[in-house]
Amino acid sequence: MNRVYIKTYGCQMNERDSEAVAGMLNDRGYVIVNSEEIADIVLLNTCSIRDQSEQKAIGKAGQLLKHKGNKSQFLLGILGCMAQNRGQALLDSLPDLDLIVGTQKFHHTPDHLDALISSLDQKVSDVPLPIVDLDEEPDSQNTIRHHDPTNGRVSTFVSIMQGCDMNCSFCIVPKTRGAERSRPMEQIVDEIHSIVDNGTREVTLLGQIVTSYGKREYPTLRGKTPFVQLLEKIHEIQGLHRIRFTSPHPLGFRKDLITAFHEMPKLGEYAHLPVQSGSNQMLKAMNRPYSRERYLKLIDSLRAVSPNMHFSTDIIVGFPGETEDDFRQTKSLFKRVGFDMAFIFKYSERTGTMAAEKSDQVSREIKDSRNQELLRILEGHSLQRNRSLVGSIQEILVEGPARKGEGMLMGRTRGYRKVVFPGPPSMIGELINIHIKEATVTVLKGVPAVSHSTAQGTASTLVNLT
Ligand code: 5AD
Repeated sequence: MNRVYIKTYGCQMNERDSEAVAGMLNDRGYVIVNSEEIADIVLLNTCSIRDQSEQKAIGKAGQLLKHKGNKSQFLLGILGCMAQNRGQALLDSLPDLDLIVGTQKFHHTPDHLDALISSLDQKVSDVPLPIVDLDEEPDSQNTIRHHDPTNGRVSTFVSIMQGCDMNCSFCIVPKTRGAERSRPMEQIVDEIHSIVDNGTREVTLLGQIVTSYGKREYPTLRGKTPFVQLLEKIHEIQGLHRIRFTSPHPLGFRKDLITAFHEMPKLGEYAHLPVQSGSNQMLKAMNRPYSRERYLKLIDSLRAVSPNMHFSTDIIVGFPGETEDDFRQTKSLFKRVGFDMAFIFKYSERTGTMAAEKSDQVSREIKDSRNQELLRILEGHSLQRNRSLVGSIQEILVEGPARKGEGMLMGRTRGYRKVVFPGPPSMIGELINIHIKEATVTVLKGVPAVSHSTAQGTASTLVNLT
């Protein structure tokens, strides 16, 4: 009764939370398995950002509970955002759930499973079932820190803060993740030192709103926000090649962070900058406190300090009241920025948010067609941008074997474009120059280039690997 399967829905924060729970369970003697078929315990770490995300997890839970009907020893738990959002009400549709754990309680999961297992062993349980653990907990942001030292991962997520104090009118996250709380800088830096010692070469700093990092805990020093102070400390870590972060708020990109892209080479030439809409009316209705003009100025400022910047974004189509003209504004912003990548969401009504109260909801058909239209524009941009890299030499951080093709490796450029190329496993974790030969919308293909010194300086030639 100790094999646990954890299924994760949603964002990178959720992936990181699951990873930390898996580590804690492992320390407690549980075995993490990679299929529900062979598990005694299934934990669904859930997402609430859209209704569809919740429905997927509810469907899965229902299916698993049916299966539980003919197994006397099986436990099912719902963790994370949907647990927090729906709480006890989950039991109305899923009365046989054993465990409900909120977003500030992940670290209690091992204790709860121990208690549930011992109650299964007894005829009469002294644990009230199911276990529901949803309250706020001070310092819970400091509990997501467990990494498996043996996984040898080149790129690792590091949680730096939790919660969000912005009040975007569409968004459920302030309810599911609570108020902004940050981890101490020294603790984060120590954690990154130790994962770098175990082979990590790239970290992605995670938080619901990373640019607000440390706002309550640390002062701004010489014009530098606590987030930029943290980046500076991490940048000094020897052996770490790259630093990425997600998600920032455009308002958090002040002069200090823009300059950081010039001064800190480990940041690369990539930023994810959620814009949500290109229409000022919509931005106002969404309670996003910036204008389209200000956003575009930010893009231009970043390109001014780092001309090869690549940008990705989040967009919502079909927000209540979005007219054809509002959508035209979004398309024009999309074209003007030329995003390399975008996460396009059809607006989903979330109970308890301000936007859900609005009467002028947009029809499903219109959302679908706007979604398709933006996807087509995005495809065009991505392909064009990727094609522009054909013939160039790009510095790649080699992450591991490619999913397809024997002897093929996968890595990413400084602009976060995915590259596949032939090479030996010894290249994993290294920065390698790759000569780009082919491009599709989502991936570049190339071959390693070797650098050698010539009378004129450094030149690159191709290595013939065949
Ligand atoms: N409907 C659709 N998309 C949403 N997002 C957040 N809330 C909603 C919603 N109610 C999107 C935003 C955000 C991303 C993580 O999810 O674009 O940046």
